[in-house]
Amino acid sequence: MDKLLIEGGAPLVGEAAVSGAKNAALPIICASLLCGDSLNLSNVPQLNDVATMRRLIGQMGIEVTADGGGTLTLNSRRLNNPVAPYEMVKTMRASILVLGPLLARCGEAKVSMPGGCAIGARPVDQHIKGLQAMGAEIRVEGGYVLAQARRLKGARIVTDMVTVTGTENLMMAATLAEGETIIENAACEPEVVDLARCLTAMGAKISGAGSSRVSIQGVQALHGADYRVMPDRIETGTYLCAAAATRGAIVLTRTSAALLESVIDKLREAGCAIDCRPDSIALQAPPRLKSVSVRTAPYPAFPTDMQAQFMAIDSVAEGSAVIHETIFENRFMHAVELLRLGADIRIDANNAVVTGVPALDGATVMATDLRASASLVIAGLVAQGETLIERIYHLDRGYERIEEKLTRLGANVRRVR
Ligand code: EPZ
Repeated sequence: MDKLLIEGGAPLVGEAAVSGAKNAALPIICASLLCGDSLNLSNVPQLNDVATMRRLIGQMGIEVTADGGGTLTLNSRRLNNPVAPYEMVKTMRASILVLGPLLARCGEAKVSMPGGCAIGARPVDQHIKGLQAMGAEIRVEGGYVLAQARRLKGARIVTDMVTVTGTENLMMAATLAEGETIIENAACEPEVVDLARCLTAMGAKISGAGSSRVSIQGVQALHGADYRVMPDRIETGTYLCAAAATRGAIVLTRTSAALLESVIDKLREAGCAIDCRPDSIALQAPPRLKSVSVRTAPYPAFPTDMQAQFMAIDSVAEGSAVIHETIFENRFMHAVELLRLGADIRIDANNAVVTGVPALDGATVMATDLRASASLVIAGLVAQGETLIERIYHLDRGYERIEEKLTRLGANVRRVR
């Protein structure tokens, strides 16, 4: 398995381009299941999760062509196998996003239950509840969700909690349902808005995306479209944290500060000077960061996907801070690895008290999930000596060409087989 070897101490300096958003590309790729015309996508990130999703819909009969430079053409006119098998779903939970589109397009779907992952149980009961409200007959058998619906009917759905992929699944299903669907308590994440924009380009009638109340007026059929995926706000935040921790000065292009205002506010609170332009962000780090406390919550509050990265920067900041994780029940796996690097972190249920230390010491650490891996990279970049990060296949799921981008910014990092 690949590992990442980092020689810490170099400040990140220079310019890097942000890739397309993983968590927008994945649902948008699933939107291609909704009609038989071609969906032509651009700015699609070259990530393992995107490759997995391509394989998943490919085995359903979808024609997928790519130019290797971020464009993807999807055509589902030959969709003939509405099944998402366990061996593919178990590697990527976002596979559940095919459920709504398959039900809406084919009237049936057999999708493996995603199962849990390192950060939590990750149930999909809200996806199922919402589709049942739209008239689907759904049962779970042998680890699979078996769903059928002659034609989905519009319904008013109130999800028990804010769920990003739950909102996305229900929104996609509702585009072809009979009548109006209202989703209350909907997720407001920018990736939900990006999906809604793509669906609208395909002829869907959606209003309120980005608010907690989304209304979808079902139509008879959708049509093909050209669509450019939004920038990845979590990749953006991750590189800003890496520059902040290493006393660097970077400019990130092809991204927008409007996508991660809560993160930028926190980085300014930590002492960074941040200049936001229409499609770029410049960060100048202070000689030493000040500790900042964060509390994760649904958008527009501080994103859970940036929690691990802030635990890393708080580990070397001046002072103490509390990190409160409210979305997932087990999202502190990176803490024990940071302790191996000399961090001072005390976990109490969903709270972590982080006291900054003058320096971290390089060591061998193990990645456990995507964003935990990112926090170990940030820690390795600032630690004294060498840090070897194992199981970096987690990283490759969500960060495009990470060692190339970091090297161009002056980091001493290389992939070792
Ligand atoms: C999406 O996951 C993202 N993934 C996650 O990013 C992100 O951390 C998460 O939203 C929260 O922002 C994609 O978009 C592909 P949820 P999702 O449904 O949709 C509970 C990354 O690193 N819940 O919003 O699976 C759930 O257990 C990944 O890129 C139910 O109980 O998250 C969690 O506690 C990690 N029942 C909370 O709601 C349900 O039916 C929020 O989960 C659905 C969710």
